[in-house]
Amino acid sequence: MNNNVDIEKYFKPDLNKARKRSKQTIEELQFNLSDAHHKIGVDKTYSIHTYGCQGNEADSETMAGILELMGFANSSTEENSDVIIINTCAIRENAENRIWGELGRLKKLKRQNPNLILGLAGCMAQEVNVVDRVMKKYQHVDLVFGTHNIYKLPEYVETAMFSKERVIEVYSQEGDIIENLPKVRNHRFKAWVNIMFGCDEFCTYCIVPYTRGKERSRSKEEIIKEVSELVDQGYKEVTLLGQNVNAYGKDFKDVEYTFGDLLKDLDKVGIERIRFTTSHPHDLDRKTMEAMRDGKHIMPHFHLPVQSGSNPVLKKMNRHYTKESYLKVLNELKEIVPGISITTDIIVGFPTENEEDFFETLDMVDQANFEGAFTFIFSKREGTPAAKFEDDTPEEIKKQRLYLLNEKINDGYLRGNQRFLNQTVKVLVDGVSKHDDQVLAGYSEHNKLVNFRGNRDMIGQIVEVKITQAKTWFLLGEAV
Ligand code: 5AD
Ligand code: SF4
Repeated sequence: MNNNVDIEKYFKPDLNKARKRSKQTIEELQFNLSDAHHKIGVDKTYSIHTYGCQGNEADSETMAGILELMGFANSSTEENSDVIIINTCAIRENAENRIWGELGRLKKLKRQNPNLILGLAGCMAQEVNVVDRVMKKYQHVDLVFGTHNIYKLPEYVETAMFSKERVIEVYSQEGDIIENLPKVRNHRFKAWVNIMFGCDEFCTYCIVPYTRGKERSRSKEEIIKEVSELVDQGYKEVTLLGQNVNAYGKDFKDVEYTFGDLLKDLDKVGIERIRFTTSHPHDLDRKTMEAMRDGKHIMPHFHLPVQSGSNPVLKKMNRHYTKESYLKVLNELKEIVPGISITTDIIVGFPTENEEDFFETLDMVDQANFEGAFTFIFSKREGTPAAKFEDDTPEEIKKQRLYLLNEKINDGYLRGNQRFLNQTVKVLVDGVSKHDDQVLAGYSEHNKLVNFRGNRDMIGQIVEVKITQAKTWFLLGEAV
């Protein structure tokens, strides 16, 4: 990797450029920390605040890995930190508003400690209006970098620390795939594993294809190597990450190797549990379903975002499927993997969604029998096509729709839990319950939260639990 590129000040993003998909071949490069960067952080500390999805959590683990390789130690309080990085999410306006609030709050800390380096990273940094606002109104932010250049963190920290210049460097388009990135994982037995980056779907409401660039898959060798190393380190569960894992491998030239193949190969690596997120219905194929059926370690849970049950709305969202074709794929999946638990994402109040469309969504929830969902009110994202769609539904109506939808979704959570009453399930024990430290908490194979009494030695183990009560949000049981 060329580590000697001059840092250009004010390297700002451009959503129009980010929209373009180049034909350039993606190369695989290895991360190396130069000697000059090894000792910069000795006797100094950092903290990272993470917002948003699992992709961001995984990125924060990489940032932590890089900073620790530079000698920085993790700080338990932000008051003592020499470097604070806010890893941001741009998916909805309320996520962004919280982050602006946090940046404002950190101004005081910067005044108390002018040597503090405050960095803004992640998806918000990919938006030009965000970078402009930071440059003008948030002078206390020293460092802005995006999702494509995390590996350059050592240079940025060095510049901010020694030349006392602001560093603003955001690439509009993705670069190569960087391997060998160090990581400090947040969990001792569950790990995130990126299998691909970016998204080419361009759902009309979504900013992700602009902030995360074009779809590019990691090589199967690198993924298998990472999962094998995790097994050696005692990890029990991996969650494979991508914006649309079902498109894995579609960008490979000359090789026919897709998500189903990857699942089959990973099933043999020796990891106890394999999960993945997130999926797109129109890329979900039979090979994947069969890999789930045949695999011994692939968990029987599928998060399959539907977004809406109305065909006109799905079309306007650019989702490439109809209510009927979604249900067809779903029913095929349920047939091939009996008992599988299905969860989803749904947006209400998308521009043009009327009452009839919304009832189609409610009907969809009934027919699909979802056992959980993340539900959202549409949020206008500058630069996406849907931001220009006429939207005349009052906010109050949107809130009512969300309320009605959530009632139905909650019934699904309860039904999904009730089907395990009196059964024995396998639970990977995460730790003690948030509400009672005499109680252990973990997730079943179907991804249901289970609480039961047991001893702390069970943490990190897979334990059999007989379910005695089913509540909406969790199951109660006894270790057998
Ligand atoms: N407004 C509301 N929800 C959104 N999502 C993505 N973009 C938006 C938006 N502009 C939701 C989708 C997606 C999930 C990660 O976030 O449901 O599946
Ligand atoms: Fe966004 Fe659609 Fe890509 Fe998911 S598939 S990240 S909703 S554009």
